[in-house]
Amino acid sequence: MKKVIIESPGGYEKLLIREFPDLMPKDDDVVVEVAYSGINYADILVRWGVYESAKRFVGWPITPGFEYSGTIKKLGSRVTKFKVGDQVFGITLFGGYASQVCVNQELVFPIPKSFSLAEAAGFPAVYLSAYHGLLQNVVVRPGSWVLVHSAAGGVGTALLQLCRIKGFNAVAVVGSSHKVETAKKFGALEVIDKSREDLWNKARNIKPQGYDVILDANGISTLQDSYNHLAPCGKLIVYGFHSMLPKQGGKLQYHKLIWDYLRTPKFSPMAMTTENKSVVAFNVSFLFDKQFFVVEAMADAVNWIKEGKLLAPQVRVYPFNEVARAHQDMESGQTVGKLVLVHD
Ligand SMILES: NC(=O)c1ccc[n+]([C@@H]2O[C@H](COP(=O)([O-])OP(=O)(O)OC[C@H]3O[C@@H](n4cnc5c(N)ncnc54)[C@H](OP(=O)(O)O)[C@@H]3O)[C@@H](O)[C@H]2O)c1
Repeated sequence: MKKVIIESPGGYEKLLIREFPDLMPKDDDVVVEVAYSGINYADILVRWGVYESAKRFVGWPITPGFEYSGTIKKLGSRVTKFKVGDQVFGITLFGGYASQVCVNQELVFPIPKSFSLAEAAGFPAVYLSAYHGLLQNVVVRPGSWVLVHSAAGGVGTALLQLCRIKGFNAVAVVGSSHKVETAKKFGALEVIDKSREDLWNKARNIKPQGYDVILDANGISTLQDSYNHLAPCGKLIVYGFHSMLPKQGGKLQYHKLIWDYLRTPKFSPMAMTTENKSVVAFNVSFLFDKQFFVVEAMADAVNWIKEGKLLAPQVRVYPFNEVARAHQDMESGQTVGKLVLVHD
């Protein structure tokens, strides 16, 4: 089998492809011959050495990747859910950039009929993140107004779809004009193109009373304004900090990182109490051992996909040996939907 190995933190040159012995499953595990591996923004953070769960759970060397699709190749002695040859997709806590993964059968699911293998590989990580952020963390009522930053990306399009399914009014924010149509396709009622429009003027024009929920993975560039634009009882859901990070060159700029870290707003519990506004934060890579996290979300996904309510992600495919180009594109902030790697 082949996998991407990163031996120490750094730029694109750190993404090495190496040969390894084939995997053997234990008890409840299955080995999947991977057809496609999904790429997430978090994989860039793993490569840079600033992703906390990667450092805590794996260290160096590491193979990034949280998701894959392919065919079951081997079964552990206690596996009951699958047989050899089944087409599946699933999640893994790292190790997904590989032509084989060995995972517990509970983390693997049959491919939905309406999804291609490439689409299935790009589905679970962003869907589970969006589901946990919006539906497991807070109570949101139908008719609520939800503002979604970076709405045409992986998590963003998943959030827009969940808003449509749940009857929330989604206002999408995108950083480039070519992303507007994607945001509309996945369910945005209104789109704010911040490359052409004043983000917060337009957000106030759309909803002068403020938003019930704002989902923000930008960090420093919008966090304080997001909080300021919450309605009473509003929730600011924080799940990333990508505006601290470079969009080209592949290397961290430590002075900017430290400066942005120091400037990141701190929210006072006393002010939040008086204002009836809250800040909620999460990182799903620390939740793999929580039963409720995957089970509830995937049960809903199966039904919504069958009913035609949940669409497959929009995917762009890169050959496995062009993983560095895929990272470069992901870092640029210009991509829409999901990026996936195809294996030979
Ligand atoms: N906490 C969690 O559990 C969790 C789980 C999944 C993802 N995340 C976070 O959610 C965010 C989205 O992840 P994703 O995989 O779905 O990626 P993505 O949204 O497909 O791509 C990232 C998007 O962020 C925006 N962006 C703004 N500043 C950027 C910068 N300096 N560099 C790169 N992109 C920048 C760009 O969109 P616009 O210019 O249109 O805003 C870009 O398209 C990331 O911050 C990721 O770390 C967190």
